[in-house]
Amino acid sequence: SKIIIAVDGYSSCGKSTTAKAVAARMGYAYIDTGAMYRAVSLYFHQNRVTYTNPKEVAEALEKLHVSFNFNEKTGRNETCLNGLNVEEEIRKMYISNMVSEVSTIVEVRRAMVAQQQRMGRKRGVVMDGRDIGTKVFPDAEVKVFMTADTFIRAKRRQVELLEKGEMVNLDEIVRNLEKRDHIDSTRSESPLTQAPDAVLLDTSFMMIDEQVEWVIELADR
Ligand code: C5P
Repeated sequence: SKIIIAVDGYSSCGKSTTAKAVAARMGYAYIDTGAMYRAVSLYFHQNRVTYTNPKEVAEALEKLHVSFNFNEKTGRNETCLNGLNVEEEIRKMYISNMVSEVSTIVEVRRAMVAQQQRMGRKRGVVMDGRDIGTKVFPDAEVKVFMTADTFIRAKRRQVELLEKGEMVNLDEIVRNLEKRDHIDSTRSESPLTQAPDAVLLDTSFMMIDEQVEWVIELADR
């Protein structure tokens, strides 16, 4: 029968690449929960929402809708904000620089977690994020917690950004990763932490294929 695979961990450890490949291999759906918080951040940015104003936040959450659309032409999943493809925009550095702050807002988390639980209710999903094994699906059959050396993560992220045409120096990326990890780990609402039943995976010296095999093997047990 179908299960839930939760992939949590620090920023840029290869969670999404691994989770996506595992989902494809198992014929499961892949859900990128980071993309959802990024899309909310984009909405806040575009509409100049004051995060500290609960009324503005509540209004924004009423008006924004995040969804995923499979693009037949490219064969890729796109993140949509109110029906518009924002996949490229949400990966940019200015969104990375605001997303963790937005993700500390309790009302934002409540809305996203509820939607994630609805999306996974039929199981057969690989979901990546920061609180999947601890909060969204504490009963997930397989839980992976990913970590990797900060410098290696930053280097990988830099290559990724460059491939998308954004040149960012390594220092700025290191600072962003460390800041996000810190905010994510210390927020009051479901902070980033390894679930007691999650298996730790250090991807510092692993290739994507190895990571995928490792998770599949864990799921097959
Ligand atoms: O996974 P990604 O790096 O795209 O996530 C962006 C940010 O969204 C994270 O740094 C974190 O602040 C937030 N996030 C979260 N909970 C999740 C997924 C992402 O708070 N489940």
